[in-house]
Amino acid sequence: MLRIGLLGCGRIGHVHALSIAVLDGVCLTAVADAFPDAAQRLADRNGAAVLSADAVIASPEVDAVIIATPTDTHYDLIHAAARAGKAIFCEKPVDMSADRIRDCVAVVTAEGVPFLTAFNRRFDPNFAALQARIQAGEIGRVELVTIMSRDPSPPPISYIARSGGIFRDMMIHDFDMARFLLGEDPVQVFAVGSALVDPEIGAAGDVDTAAVTLTTSSGAICQITNSRRAVYGYDQRVEVHGAKGMFRAGNVLENTVELATGAGFCAAPAKHFFLERYEAAYRAEIAHFVEAVTRNLPASPGIQDGLAAQLLADAATLSLSTGRPVAL
Ligand SMILES: NC(=O)c1ccc[n+]([C@@H]2O[C@H](COP(=O)([O-])OP(=O)(O)OC[C@H]3O[C@@H](n4cnc5c(N)ncnc54)[C@H](O)[C@@H]3O)[C@@H](O)[C@H]2O)c1
Repeated sequence: MLRIGLLGCGRIGHVHALSIAVLDGVCLTAVADAFPDAAQRLADRNGAAVLSADAVIASPEVDAVIIATPTDTHYDLIHAAARAGKAIFCEKPVDMSADRIRDCVAVVTAEGVPFLTAFNRRFDPNFAALQARIQAGEIGRVELVTIMSRDPSPPPISYIARSGGIFRDMMIHDFDMARFLLGEDPVQVFAVGSALVDPEIGAAGDVDTAAVTLTTSSGAICQITNSRRAVYGYDQRVEVHGAKGMFRAGNVLENTVELATGAGFCAAPAKHFFLERYEAAYRAEIAHFVEAVTRNLPASPGIQDGLAAQLLADAATLSLSTGRPVAL
């Protein structure tokens, strides 16, 4: 039985607690939050103890920690948990700075603790099946990857202002998906962006509409588009074109009911946002972590994947500001 300590009982912390509750071989023994009430509510539902973050990390009743606190707290918690010998499941992004992620790589490597960077989309049943079939060679060499990722509506300006920008905050998931589907690392990044959804996002120094082209050393090309607005729900699609064919994975809709009339076909909206759309992925991600730690197998994506996605986000941010492609 893997005993988990949960750090951070906010939006994503609740999702992980729910996954733990329904999975075998894992239990939630302790939780911590900067707001004790938030921790207590979650602890009551799961029969866990409420402790401080330091006490969760030090607890002999905890084998592994889930870091689900705001991104700017990950660095210190990773260091403390690694030094305490705990396996670490860390929400993305690992940190906003590639140099600080390198420090985290160093401590995790030195202490030899298992580490999973929570890029949940790799665990989505559709995207995971698509990637497995690419790897099985069904479409031959990958030549073009197209990733479309659009949020239903923008977050508050106060969030945008400290988000690190669209590439580090939102497209970071797509950079990881690009590496996952391409099977190799991009060597060049070219980004364009505009503030079309809300001029206040532009005034805050960010963009809400962006496109990035990634090129690999083999010549494969990936195009990612992001928007902070999609009136039809959370839009999450990928298409991979290879020498022998093409795979695509479409949106997951609220239901499968379709109306057909003389005017055409009408289907349900896409699932509203990440909590609903990636429910199965969040569960599979925790299941993978538990299996990796208990069976002493590598957890994937690891901390190096967290760093690689951050480097792409940094390069895209630089490319947007300079108007030039950035070589990696
Ligand atoms: N993988 C995904 O799909 C996904 C989705 C949402 C958020 N995230 C990531 O998860 C992290 C948390 O995001 P969220 O949306 O759940 O935020 P949130 O604000 O809803 O929750 C964070 C919680 O952490 C608590 N907290 C703050 N500092 C703490 C500390 N030092 N120790 C213990 N608790 C502390 C806060 O009180 C809050 O309850 C972020 O890194 C974010 O990028 C990932």
